[in-house]
Amino acid sequence: MILAPLTRGGNLPFRRLCNDFGCKVSYSEMIYARSLNKGDAVEQARLRSSPNESLYVVQFATNQINEGVKAIKEAKQMGAHAVDLNCGCPIYEVTRRGLGSSLLRSPKKLYKLVEGLVQQSDLPITVKIRLGCEADSINCLDNVKAAREAGASAITIHGRTAQQGYSKNADWDLIKQAVEETRKDGYDIPIIGNGDILTYYEANRRMQESGVDSVMVGRGALAKPWIFQEFEKQQTWTPTAQERVEVYKTLAEYMKDHFGNDDMGRKKSWNFLPWHFEFLSRYKAYPEHQYSEDSIAQPLIQKRIIVPDDMDPIEILLANRCSDAHDRIASILWDADTHIDAYSKLCSYAESDEFATILQTGSGNPEEDKVLANLPKGKAGKWEKRRGRKPGPKRSEEEIAQIRAERAAKKARILAEGGVWPPP
Ligand SMILES: Cc1cc2nc3c(=O)[nH]c(=O)nc-3n(C[C@H](O)[C@H](O)[C@H](O)COP(=O)(O)O)c2cc1C
Repeated sequence: MILAPLTRGGNLPFRRLCNDFGCKVSYSEMIYARSLNKGDAVEQARLRSSPNESLYVVQFATNQINEGVKAIKEAKQMGAHAVDLNCGCPIYEVTRRGLGSSLLRSPKKLYKLVEGLVQQSDLPITVKIRLGCEADSINCLDNVKAAREAGASAITIHGRTAQQGYSKNADWDLIKQAVEETRKDGYDIPIIGNGDILTYYEANRRMQESGVDSVMVGRGALAKPWIFQEFEKQQTWTPTAQERVEVYKTLAEYMKDHFGNDDMGRKKSWNFLPWHFEFLSRYKAYPEHQYSEDSIAQPLIQKRIIVPDDMDPIEILLANRCSDAHDRIASILWDADTHIDAYSKLCSYAESDEFATILQTGSGNPEEDKVLANLPKGKAGKWEKRRGRKPGPKRSEEEIAQIRAERAAKKARILAEGGVWPPP
């Protein structure tokens, strides 16, 4: 079981945590080869691995052989064991530059690129693809063929198109076909299947049914960094709230180790630590005897989680999807002296008026009223700003009440649909 490349999520402290839980192969966040070659400090930092990472694969976005080869050299110097070519990123910023999933459009060009990278570099080159760009341009079998013939050392297939979000299930039938075709052609290159795995028994079933050599987990690891241990031991771990807080506190400690235990370290960590609760809050126990059948009909990660009202306050806090609360949880974890201290402070916070307000309004910021009252009615456009014109009168009490009611209704709808509040 492999940890997927995850922009933001796959930061070094998080990978260190996953490796504590027995993860043996982990991928970096996506790195732009061009920016790295220009000396970009953020991209350089992404090359660093944690001492407990036994096999670290650095993922690059590139479409040029020379550019890729230069970046691979640097990755090797920094200790990477292999390099992955990103052929799946769907975001416009990436595809408009001819990178990520846009590489899927031409298997011929992909072949040339992979062949060049393989021939001119010393590290094994792996390729991560999707089924295709859109539903009507699925060409994953052609791209798998191109990658294996070009000499790739492994191929990961995420069973979705680039256009598709996460709402539909990953298509493992096509992954299975890709494995069959590859073996029929006489290649023993490892094929890694990816999409919708949250439990060790779903991983087992996917491996058996599709014939893949490994499975890769993304969101499943973000929600349950201990999924690797479950897979290794072949049993579900159902940690108590206190045990989960211990894991989360360890993540906070690893962030301190990596970014620094001072104001600057905290500032850097804040790009990550509160964000992680967007996924950690989705944890739910799925013991095999209860959910194995259900998981065949629908992958468990795709199930909407309803949080019952009668749960312990600490469970409600840990399962809540409000980013205001995630920020407070992160602060408590960061400031607490020990795991026990973190747990007891989180328990108190779970019963506080502040958290009750967040649950009701989606905001615990006492400054909010002031902000709302001072919010101008219309937004000043560029033209108005240049001429120093004011955008309009301030909002009345009724208008503020109206905004608040609309906001509460929107929040209730989004949370009921399993979304995050406030929306990212
Ligand atoms: C937060 C987040 C960041 C991601 N970043 C990357 C990335 O940098 N490179 C990449 O190839 N895929 C990226 N992906 C896709 C995952 O690697 C994986 O293919 C996808 O989430 C499907 O696996 P899952 O169902 O186990 O989550 C990202 C996914 C998520 C949720």
